[in-house]
Amino acid sequence: MEKLAITGGRRLEGEVRISGAKNAALPILAASLLTDEQVTLGNVPHLRDITTTIELLGRLGVRVTLHEGLRIEVEPGQITHYEAPYDLVKTMRASILVLGPLVARYGRADVSLPGGCAIGARPVDLHVAGLRALGAQIDIEDGYIRARAERLKGTHLLLDKVTVTGTENLMMAAVFADGETVIENAAREPEVADLADFLNKMGARIRGAGSNRIVIEGVRRLHGAEHDVQPDRIEAGTFLVAGAITGGHVRLRHACPDHLEAILSKLRDTGAVIATGTDWVEIDMKGRPASVDISTVPYPGFPTDMQAQFAALNCIAGGVATISENVFENRYMHMLELQRMGANIRLQGHTAVIQGVDRLTAAPVMATDLRASAGLVLAGLVADGVTVVDRIYHIDRGYECIEEKLNQLGASIHRVA
Ligand code: UD1
Repeated sequence: MEKLAITGGRRLEGEVRISGAKNAALPILAASLLTDEQVTLGNVPHLRDITTTIELLGRLGVRVTLHEGLRIEVEPGQITHYEAPYDLVKTMRASILVLGPLVARYGRADVSLPGGCAIGARPVDLHVAGLRALGAQIDIEDGYIRARAERLKGTHLLLDKVTVTGTENLMMAAVFADGETVIENAAREPEVADLADFLNKMGARIRGAGSNRIVIEGVRRLHGAEHDVQPDRIEAGTFLVAGAITGGHVRLRHACPDHLEAILSKLRDTGAVIATGTDWVEIDMKGRPASVDISTVPYPGFPTDMQAQFAALNCIAGGVATISENVFENRYMHMLELQRMGANIRLQGHTAVIQGVDRLTAAPVMATDLRASAGLVLAGLVADGVTVVDRIYHIDRGYECIEEKLNQLGASIHRVA
């Protein structure tokens, strides 16, 4: 199994290009199922989750062509299979995103239940309840969600909890529904808005995406479209923390500062100087960062996908800070690994109290999920010695060329067998 070996102690300096957003590209690829015409997508990141989605589309009968320069052509035509099998869904929960489009266009979908995962139970009950309310008949059998429907019927949906892929699935399901669908308490994440922009380019009638009330007026068909995926705000945030934790000076190109407000505000609180332009962000950190309290909530609040990275930062910061994880249970696996690197962390239920230490020391550590791995890599950047992070397939799911990009900024990080 591949590992990353990181020699700590180097200050990061320079410029890096931010890739397209994984969490926007995944639903947009799934949305291509809603047309039989060609879809061309730009700024698609090269990531394992994208490859998994392309494989899933391929199994449904969709032709996907990869071009140079991060462009993908999808020719959905008429598909022949309607199943997202367990072997793919278990490696990527976001496979659930084909459920809405398949039901909307073909009136049938068999999608494996994702099951538990390393960051808690993560149920999909709201996806299922929403589809039922739109008129789909859904049976859960043999570990599969089996959905059948004639034309769905527009309705009023009030989501019990803010769910990102749930909002996306229901928005896609409703594009062909008869009449108007309203989704209340919708997720406001920028990736939901990017998906809606893409759907509207295909001829959908969606208003309000990016707010907590989305209105979808059903249409009869969607046509092909071209779309560039928005920049990845979590990758951007991770590189900004890499700058802060090493006392560095890092500039991100092709980033979207508007999507980073909660993260930038916390970084300013650490003492970093932040500058922004329309599509760039720069961080300059002099000396040791100050600790910052973090409480994760849905967008526009502080994202759970940046919790592990700020935990790493707090480990070496001046002062004591509290981290509260409110979106997912059991998303603290990295804390135990950070403790093995010498971090002073006390876990109390949903809260971690971190007292910054002067130095972390390298240790062999294990990545347990995507963002936890990013936290461990960041800790490795400042630890004394060579930190070896095992199970980095997690990081390859969501970070494009992470070691190349970090090395470009002056880090010393290598893939080892
Ligand atoms: C998405 C992101 C993920 C991010 C998360 C929260 C993608 C592909 N993934 O995941 O990177 O960490 O948002 O920002 O976009 N819930 C239910 N029932 C449901 C659905 C969700 O109880 O039917 C709960 C979950 O257990 C969790 C909370 O709602 O506690 C939020 O989860 P959700 O927003 O759905 O996460 P994902 O969409 O899976």
